[in-house]
Amino acid sequence: MHFLGNTCCINSYQDNNVIKVAPSGSVFCICLLAVLVSSDDWDIYSFHINSTVTSCYATTVITSRVANRMNESKETEFHVRIPKNAFISKFRMFIDDQIYDGVVKVKEQAQQQYTEAVSRGESAGLVSSVGRTLEEFRTSVTMAAHKKVTFELTYEELMKRMHGKYELQIHAQPMQPVRDFKVDVYIHEEAGISFIDVKGGLSTKALANAITKTHADKEAWIYFYPTADQQKMCDSCGEQGMNGDLVIVYDVNRDNGLGHIKKSAGYFVHHFAPSNLPRIPKNVVFLIDQSGSMHGKKIQQTRTALIHILNDLAEDDLFGLITFDGNIFHWKRELVQANSENMESAKHFARNIHDRGSTNINQAVLQGANMLNVHHREGSASILILLTDGDPTSGETNLEKIQSNVKQAIAGKFPLYCLGFGFDVNFDFLEKMSLQNNGVARRIYEDSDADLQLKGFYEEVATPLLTDVTMIYVGGTNLTQTNFSQYYNGSEIVVAGQITDNDIQTFIPQVVAVSSTRRVIFANTNDSVESTETMADDRIQRVWAHLTVKQLLDKQLQLSGPEKEKVKKEALELSLKYNFVTPLTSMVVTKPPGENTDVLHKPGRWSSVGLPLLILSSTCPVSLRFLRTQCTPCLLFT
Ligand SMILES: *[C@@H]1O[C@H](CO)[C@@H](O)[C@H](O)[C@H]1NC(C)=O
Ligand SMILES: *[C@@H]1O[C@H](CO)[C@@H](O)[C@H](O)[C@H]1NC(C)=O
Ligand SMILES: *[C@@H]1O[C@H](CO)[C@@H](O)[C@H](O)[C@H]1NC(C)=O
Ligand SMILES: *[C@@H]1O[C@H](CO)[C@@H](O)[C@H](O)[C@H]1NC(C)=O
Repeated sequence: MHFLGNTCCINSYQDNNVIKVAPSGSVFCICLLAVLVSSDDWDIYSFHINSTVTSCYATTVITSRVANRMNESKETEFHVRIPKNAFISKFRMFIDDQIYDGVVKVKEQAQQQYTEAVSRGESAGLVSSVGRTLEEFRTSVTMAAHKKVTFELTYEELMKRMHGKYELQIHAQPMQPVRDFKVDVYIHEEAGISFIDVKGGLSTKALANAITKTHADKEAWIYFYPTADQQKMCDSCGEQGMNGDLVIVYDVNRDNGLGHIKKSAGYFVHHFAPSNLPRIPKNVVFLIDQSGSMHGKKIQQTRTALIHILNDLAEDDLFGLITFDGNIFHWKRELVQANSENMESAKHFARNIHDRGSTNINQAVLQGANMLNVHHREGSASILILLTDGDPTSGETNLEKIQSNVKQAIAGKFPLYCLGFGFDVNFDFLEKMSLQNNGVARRIYEDSDADLQLKGFYEEVATPLLTDVTMIYVGGTNLTQTNFSQYYNGSEIVVAGQITDNDIQTFIPQVVAVSSTRRVIFANTNDSVESTETMADDRIQRVWAHLTVKQLLDKQLQLSGPEKEKVKKEALELSLKYNFVTPLTSMVVTKPPGENTDVLHKPGRWSSVGLPLLILSSTCPVSLRFLRTQCTPCLLFT
């Protein structure tokens, strides 16, 4: 029997305050809830979610009005899930005409209050990671008999275009059926909305009738007003009301030129996503970890995904396959053409990948980089993809040494994408290594759909349309990232900045890139910089701030010493100025007299924060791997 601290089980059934998870193989888990705030004692009489989206920037306000029905004071909890990518920018409570505002502070300043709260044995309303895309926000307040409280939370998110669409995820789990429950989504995209759909668990069965969708050219409205009865009727809903997602999927019209530039109050945001360009042949090398820890389902799913991916290669693509454990195995020493003969042979190789041995990441990446370097061909796009589920355990194991070797071998010539499979990976290490080489790292969740996640990632980079993209803004300053090594169909490049002296006459945007072997320039023929001065809002400025903070946070990951401190300081100052709860700041909520102060933290990175000990056990049921909450303790019997 293992004791596992700070862990609790969702996807489980509840029995007298003891949450049990159904046995999975020889393992089952019992979690005891230290304090279960009973929701019978209070009444959520309204729950509204209001999301406004423009220029793919979503601002969502969740308002919950709660009454204490009892004739004695009760603790009331406000508990919601928000997208990980979002920054909380406002939280307030209204009690008896009094407003209690959350204040964003430097993390160290807030730390004191947090530590005190923790030492009092409380969970100090945390923002913690749950699942793949959501984060949990919770706080509680004690309410006198028959009193009412209103909670209001605002978060902001820059949506990312993937596979040719944007997705706005709204999670609803009010913990009880609510008479006045509403989700209002308003989307305004100047470029025009090409399509809009509503998906997710809450859009099915009886709940589908509660959705109204209106789509005009540039605007769309989604209303979701389920009755209290309907709220008990979806797959994941029950007596406790709804529990699920509403996912708004849409895309905007593309002009295939310079794209859309929106400006307001001296700031601009540029969305660049041409799709009518020819694809560039690619040279892709897959580095597949076959160490012992990949045993079982993981290696099986990897084989399945790899075979699918090989099927999708185009004939003019060149590819290579390297598997590695403590040793390196080349399927072929050189890159080969993706013709049917080579493909059959590669698939045969893929089917026979078996797990064994340790993990020599250093050697694998260097060999892969070498294959691409040797095979440089004009007018193509090279891509290196590493799939691993663990730490480097053989060959070079010093992480910094590996990073510097890899950086040197790649020398900025092509991107490195790292896919971290499961939770035993050192994701920080992979992320840093990808960012240092113009790529990104992605988590592959150990779950039944892991092969689809792998394939989904590959599809994002499957169709390079441009390489060496440089975004130029004469008359612009304080720009976010402007150089991109590759641009893929279905994605998008977003740049924001300030317009010098707010002078639109001297502001000239331009994109220079390479399409296959041609140098191409995207420039404005007509005046397409669209001004939203009439809206008189600071939204474009907030988009700029949001993107800048995100990029600074990524940048500081790659740096060390005084440079790191400088970038961190910049990110911190902007977070404070724009009231963003980021990994560098916290929100302090001072409650009514006699109550404790809550400090709300955003988890830094998945790998280092917020993960239960549980994940270290390879025998634990999948459903337990994503959780983390304040209930303790969790026991695991094997
Ligand atoms: C939603 O928020 C927007 C912007 O703050 C506001 O104009 C609108 O009235 C709100 N809608 C509802 C239904 O509260
Ligand atoms: C609350 O009301 C119940 C009955 O409605 C009564 O028995 C109880 O004494 C009351 N408690 C307090 C603290 O007033
Ligand atoms: C890029 O995507 C668009 C829209 O999905 C599609 O029409 C186009 O054919 C794609 N281009 C290539 C080269 O695959
Ligand atoms: C860039 O932004 C910083 C911080 O907001 C500001 O102080 C500075 O004036 C800006 N630079 C220019 C050239 O506008």
